[in-house]
Amino acid sequence: MATATTEAPVEIGVIPSFDVTIRVRRFNPEVSEESTWQDFHVTMFGTDRVLDALHKIKWEHDGSLTFRRSCAHGVCGSDAMRINGRNRLACKTLIKDLNINEPITVEPIKGLEVEKDLVVDMNPFYQAYRDIKPFLIANDKPEKERLQSAEQRARFDDTTKCILCAACTTSCPVFWTDGQYFGPAAIVNAHRFIFDSRDEGAEVRLDILNDKEGVWRCRTTFNCTEACPRGIQVTRAVAEVKQAILRGRA
Ligand code: SF4
Ligand code: FES
Repeated sequence: MATATTEAPVEIGVIPSFDVTIRVRRFNPEVSEESTWQDFHVTMFGTDRVLDALHKIKWEHDGSLTFRRSCAHGVCGSDAMRINGRNRLACKTLIKDLNINEPITVEPIKGLEVEKDLVVDMNPFYQAYRDIKPFLIANDKPEKERLQSAEQRARFDDTTKCILCAACTTSCPVFWTDGQYFGPAAIVNAHRFIFDSRDEGAEVRLDILNDKEGVWRCRTTFNCTEACPRGIQVTRAVAEVKQAILRGRA
């Protein structure tokens, strides 16, 4: 026999909404040298990500809000920001998974100069990436493709997943205090080629990262691994590059 229930009926196909405060760190160098917090009260849905809230604010509240995004699906790496004090991709962070009873803070990633609101100057980050020579170096000219076993491919599989979002490098306390440090993202991308059996540039890259601003600056705080939206074992990759400098590529 069916029992009576006092719960409100769930309307099929209706996604529940909720009100939330998004607290954004605003900065406009044409107005002030200081950044300020600004609250926006928005109604969002259970399926919305922080990026949806930023869009809503920009499109309905304040068109001057400035941030980067492109794919909106965790692929391009352009919308890394500090959300509730932690580096994340805005497009991969569901609002309902945060504490919606408190304001959700959104700030630019740390350690890079802020240009406006959530947009930082990524040039130092990309320069470190360019410096480690992120391309295959091979001196021979084979007449057919370079073969690689599944095991050889697996050796560097993890570090192929990087989307250059900078969440790791800008969560690193060493990078915050020394912007010259190559940073974990550059090391991850060096790892991707150092351990590629087809590549012949390992010695060059290891020499570059044996610099005083190279891998030895890493203090193994694991912030980078925790921040990576691709689940890359960043700290392990840094440790493997250190080992390769000391003992050669295994
Ligand atoms: S290693 Fe992860 S956190 Fe770092 S840049 Fe690549 S994808 Fe982003
Ligand atoms: S917008 Fe492309 S990763 Fe978030």
